This record gives sequence, C-alpha cells and structure tokens, in this order.
Amino acid sequence: MLLNFIHTESDEEFTREAVDVLKKKIASAIKTHNSCMLGLSGGSTPKLIYEQLGKEDIDWSKVFIFLVDERYIESNDERSNQKLVRETLLKSAMVPEENILFPDTTLPLEDCVSDYTSKLKEMIDKQGFLPDIVTLGLGEDGHIASLFPPVPEEALSDQHFVLSTQTDQFEVKDRITLALNVIASAQNHIFFLKGEDKKNVWEEMMESDEDEHRWPAKRVLESEASTLITLW
Ligand code: 6PG
Repeated sequence: MLLNFIHTESDEEFTREAVDVLKKKIASAIKTHNSCMLGLSGGSTPKLIYEQLGKEDIDWSKVFIFLVDERYIESNDERSNQKLVRETLLKSAMVPEENILFPDTTLPLEDCVSDYTSKLKEMIDKQGFLPDIVTLGLGEDGHIASLFPPVPEEALSDQHFVLSTQTDQFEVKDRITLALNVIASAQNHIFFLKGEDKKNVWEEMMESDEDEHRWPAKRVLESEASTLITLW
C-alpha cells in the first residue's frame, strides 16, 4: 500500500496543496487522453478547495464533473452536494453544462439511482476511460462517500454501480452513492483530511484489523494511487 501523504501546517497550505494536486492530476489526464473525469465528494472540508480550484488556469472544456455521492434533497437546498459544487468550483470554472452530471433528485429515490447509474455509465463509456480522479473525505464513523459502516454487501460487489443508502448521522438520511468498486476503480483517489477527529479516525482504521465492511476506505487505499492531504 503506497500512500502519498502531504502533511500541511495551516489552512492556507492545506487548501493550496490540495488545489495543486488536483490541478496537476487534471492536467495530466488531459495531456494523456485529452479529457479528465473528475468525481467530487461533498461535505464541509472541500469547499475552499473547490472554490480555489475553479479559479485555476485549466482547460475546463475538457473536464467532466460528476458527484461521488449526493444527499437526496432538492438541488437548491443548502445540504445538497450539487449546490456546493455549483457555488464553489463551478462559480468560476467554465465547465460546459453537458459535461456536468449530478443525480436528479427530483425523481423518486430509486428512479434517481437508476437514472444516475445509466448516465454515469454513459459518460464513462463515451470517455472510454475509468474516472481519472475522485475526491474523498472520511467521516467520523469511517465512512467515505455515503458508504456508512457497516457497509452493506450490495455496496461492496459489482451488483450496483450506484445505490441508495441511509444514515441517521445527518439530517438528510437518504443518500445516493457510488458503489465501492466504482470509487476504487478511479485512477486517482485524493483524500482531504483536516482536524484531530480525522486523525483519530484514520489511526483507528489503520490499527484495526476489521475489513472494508467497517472501513470502506481500506479498499481504496489498496490501490497505488491514493494521495492524502492532511492538516492535523
Ligand atoms: C458528503 C461526503 C462525505 C464526506 C465526509 C466528510 O456528502 O458529506 O461525500 O462522505 O466526505 O462525511 O465530510 P467533512 O469533510 O464535512 O468532514
């Protein structure tokens, strides 16, 4: 397990390093196959990173954006991840609308899941490559995306590409999330880990011998392409 740790000492450095890593990997993907498929997680940590990234000099016309997970809520709700991305990254980054894919949460939940599944598969098939980059956080219970421990078997197999999950941790209990295989299949995984709580969860996970049902990030970390930007 080769992990690329980037330890930072301040909020400014944390944001700058995260933006630099994302910018380099986006540029590398565009150089390699003239496009970049970028999957974004939500949460509070990435806000400043996405805002700053949107201002960077990147050929956004070649970038394709999708969500790693979404809360099942109206897209104009403060808790919506698509609202987060639209008000940060997409406030400055001129990504063509046709290159942006968010779950349609106006649909009934399971229709939203199947609609997002087919559209995301279509985006990947059209690109001809697996997603280049996914950003990830780490919840205090060890979740990534909306894969909440104990992660159900259906989220750990190829049974689903996207699935709905539920949580009692947050106000919005119904979620739409990529299955773990799909997250792990991305070429690059970038974790944003800020604060003592994240350090404690990380250390608990690394000391634990429990598997991906308890710690879904373990499957992601098995790949050789994880970068962890920390401020702790
Ligand atoms: C979400 C995220 C979720 C997040 C973690 C960490 O929709 O909330 O996808 O998986 O990454 O909960 O969130 P913070 O960055 O807010 O700690």
